[in-house]
Amino acid sequence: MTPKILIIGACGQIGSELTFKLRQMYGDENVIASDISYNNAEVVNSGLFEILDAQNFTALKVCIEKYNINTVYLMAAMLSATGEKFPLKAWDLNTQSLFHVLDLAKAGVIKKIFWPSSIAVFGPTTPKDQTPQYTIMEPSTVYGITKQVGERWCEYYFNKYNVDVRSIRYPGIISWKTLPGGGTTDYAVDIYHKALQDGHYDCFLSENTALPMMFMDDAIEATVNIMAADKEAIKIRSSYNLSAVSFTPKEIAASIQKYLPEFTISYTPDFRQDIADSWPKSINDTPARTDWNWDHKFSLDDITKEMLSQLQAKYT
Ligand code: SER
Repeated sequence: MTPKILIIGACGQIGSELTFKLRQMYGDENVIASDISYNNAEVVNSGLFEILDAQNFTALKVCIEKYNINTVYLMAAMLSATGEKFPLKAWDLNTQSLFHVLDLAKAGVIKKIFWPSSIAVFGPTTPKDQTPQYTIMEPSTVYGITKQVGERWCEYYFNKYNVDVRSIRYPGIISWKTLPGGGTTDYAVDIYHKALQDGHYDCFLSENTALPMMFMDDAIEATVNIMAADKEAIKIRSSYNLSAVSFTPKEIAASIQKYLPEFTISYTPDFRQDIADSWPKSINDTPARTDWNWDHKFSLDDITKEMLSQLQAKYT
C-alpha cells in the first residue's frame, strides 16, 4: 500500500518535523498537512495544507475522502500543563479526535493510524526507575488520563475491529525547529533558547527532577519505523514504552556549560513540579527494542551540541 498520509496537528512541535520527514520519504503529493490554524509558515508553505478541526468529524471525513487518505498521524493534543488549566477542553480534544480517527478506520475508510501516547500515562504510584511496559498506571493529570484511556481504546479497536493503530509513549521531546507548547518537559527546550539569548535560565522544575527525554530526530525515527514495521511485529496495540536519555535540570545545565561556560541556572518550581514528580524518572523500553528494533542515537551531550549550533544559526 502506497501511503497517502494526513497529518493532523502538523503545525505543532512533532507534527511539523514529521511532515517534513514524511514528505521526503513519500513525496509532497502523498502527504497532506493539516492544523486548526496557519500557525507555522514553514509547514503551511511546504506543500499541501488544509485547515482542519480534529474534533469536527464531518470536516475530517471530507478531507480524508478528498485526498483518498489511507494513513493518519493524529498529532493534535492538549499537553499536560495546559490541560490542567482547561481540563474539559483537554478531555474533549484528546479523546474526540481519537474516536473520530478510530471510527473511520473501523469503517474501512482509512487503513492505518499513528497516535502518540506519553509518559504521562504513569502516575505517582508507578515505579519511577526503569518503569516497565506493564506496571501500575494511575495518572494524576488530565492529559495523562486522556492518554491512558486512549491507549485502552486503541487496543480495543485493534482486538475487536482489527484496526491497525500503532502508538508510542513519547518522553519529553527536545527540538529546535518548532517550540513545544503547554508541556511539563518544555523546560528542556526553553533552556537552550535562554542560554543563547540571556546566558541564564530560571527553571520551573527543581534541580534534581529527573525525567525521560529524547531528541526530535530519534522521536521521528521511532515514529516512521513503527509505522513501517510489519503488522505482525507490532505486538503491543496499546502503546510502546520508548526511551532514550534521562536527566535533571542540573544535568542539562552542566551539559550546556561544557559549551557555554558562563551559563547560569536558577530554580523557581511552579505547579508543573507536581506533574513532573508524578512521572517516571527513566523508562524501560525493551519490548520496542525487541519487537521493531528501536534504538536511539542521541546522548544528552549530542543533543546539547546540536541544539546550540542549530539555534545559534537561527538567531544570527
Ligand atoms: N511532553 C509532554 C508534556 O510535558 C509529555 O508527553 O506534557
